[in-house]
Amino acid sequence: MTEPGTVAPVGVIGGTGLTTLAGLEISRRYEVKNAWGSPSSALAEGAIRHQPVVFIARHGDPHRIPPHRVNYRANLQALYDAGVRTVVGVNAVGGIHPEMGPARIVIPDQLIDYTWGRASTFFEDDLDRTTHIDFTNPYSERARQLLIRAAVDESMSVSDFGVYAATQGPRLETAAEVCRLERDGCDLVGMTGMPEAALAAELGMNYVCLALVVNWAAGKTDQVITMADIEAAIATGMSGVRKLLEVAMAPLGTLPAPDRP
Ligand code: HPA
Repeated sequence: MTEPGTVAPVGVIGGTGLTTLAGLEISRRYEVKNAWGSPSSALAEGAIRHQPVVFIARHGDPHRIPPHRVNYRANLQALYDAGVRTVVGVNAVGGIHPEMGPARIVIPDQLIDYTWGRASTFFEDDLDRTTHIDFTNPYSERARQLLIRAAVDESMSVSDFGVYAATQGPRLETAAEVCRLERDGCDLVGMTGMPEAALAAELGMNYVCLALVVNWAAGKTDQVITMADIEAAIATGMSGVRKLLEVAMAPLGTLPAPDRP
């Protein structure tokens, strides 16, 4: 827990390609367990440019937990218990919008949830209050603007809009599924954006998604999607993600928690 008068840490949930956070000077690494179970990885506490940060590797370290088996509730609860009130979720995604090809960084502003069967709420038992949180804007607009500002300051070209389609996985989509996502208005597709964003909202935290496109979504090119291509896009694009995290971290640390739920 953060002591009064100390700076609240920013939480970072690293996805595929971001199992460790280079630039994070780690002061403590510790395992926790909470009412929802164990988070995906040990929590790495440290600082980036003097801003306290708590990092979790969403798929474990080493990477071994598939998207549908991530314990999203334990992850978010662990960050909350560590004093985090602003979370950056880093996600590898497939690009649907013509502007969103491999290695493109996207800071989406909306999402559609196509996942199923995941433990997607903290509101299950022993309820004594309203459970219908407002989720009109799933991402903190203030946090989004800070990431966008960091990109401008670094002269980095990023996409500052986008509807994130959260699919169940772990398989990639069919071409027809991607056509449907596009008709629905989706610009990018990933498997881990939900229920993470909703759980953060339930806990009253700011949440923002920093997405890295690692492949064209199925059917958007004639090419088969290979792990080698995905790894190449990660190798090209992740340095930009790290840079944005580094530059935006201290401003993100100044955000007040939203006044919900
Ligand atoms: N679809 C879903 N999730 C993904 C993709 C994709 O094409 N690429 C990376 N994560």
